[in-house]
Amino acid sequence: MIDIHSHILFGMDDGAQTPEESLELCRKARGGGVRIVVCTPHFTDYPLISDFARERDERLGELSDMLDKNGVELSLAAGAELFLSDDIFSCGDLDALTLNGSSYMLCEFPLGPFNIRRAPLWIEELTERGYIPVVAHPERYYEFYGHPTIIDELLDFGVIFQVNFDSLLGANGEAAKAAAARLVVSGKAQLIAGDSHDSLYRPPVNKALFAELDAEITDRILKRCLISNPKAVLSDKKIF
Ligand SMILES: [Fe+2]
Repeated sequence: MIDIHSHILFGMDDGAQTPEESLELCRKARGGGVRIVVCTPHFTDYPLISDFARERDERLGELSDMLDKNGVELSLAAGAELFLSDDIFSCGDLDALTLNGSSYMLCEFPLGPFNIRRAPLWIEELTERGYIPVVAHPERYYEFYGHPTIIDELLDFGVIFQVNFDSLLGANGEAAKAAAARLVVSGKAQLIAGDSHDSLYRPPVNKALFAELDAEITDRILKRCLISNPKAVLSDKKIF
């Protein structure tokens, strides 16, 4: 499996804080059947994208060395989770934030209240710059529940939706669980990812937990959302 959304890289955000925590998360991911993890630290208000990218790439190199030394057969790729706001577009060139250097840009909206009418405008700005927005965890946004048509509206702009694996297991509440299932079963969400922050409460994707998913989340859906579609993202091919 390929996990395209993780906070596994130490000291970058609210995910892993130390190299040891990163290593532990990587071991968990590998043990759970993941072969490639994309490191996607939150990008919010760094003054410079180049500083963020340099720090991320240095730590990614350190963590890769640790994986080699410890015999953990897991590959890492670089990315970011872009926090969308009116300010983000004055940061300049966003290319260093894409998933594995592809056209796909993982992005997130505020989890709490915000002006929902800004959402299509931010997405449009990204697409006009040539990116394919991958909207993280649509099942978790407070604003989306009051505006159910926003999902189709954003799909019309060409976004790809990514649901969190733990939402499908109910970790983010019943409403999020039902919304996440609806999104993947309908095909409106084409990616599932771990969004892992720590090994206890927000761990990586784990195939041992597939048996706990609702029956409507079929093997076919899991293969598409966790293997073939993420592979297309990393090789900058179109998702069908
Ligand atoms: Fe995240």
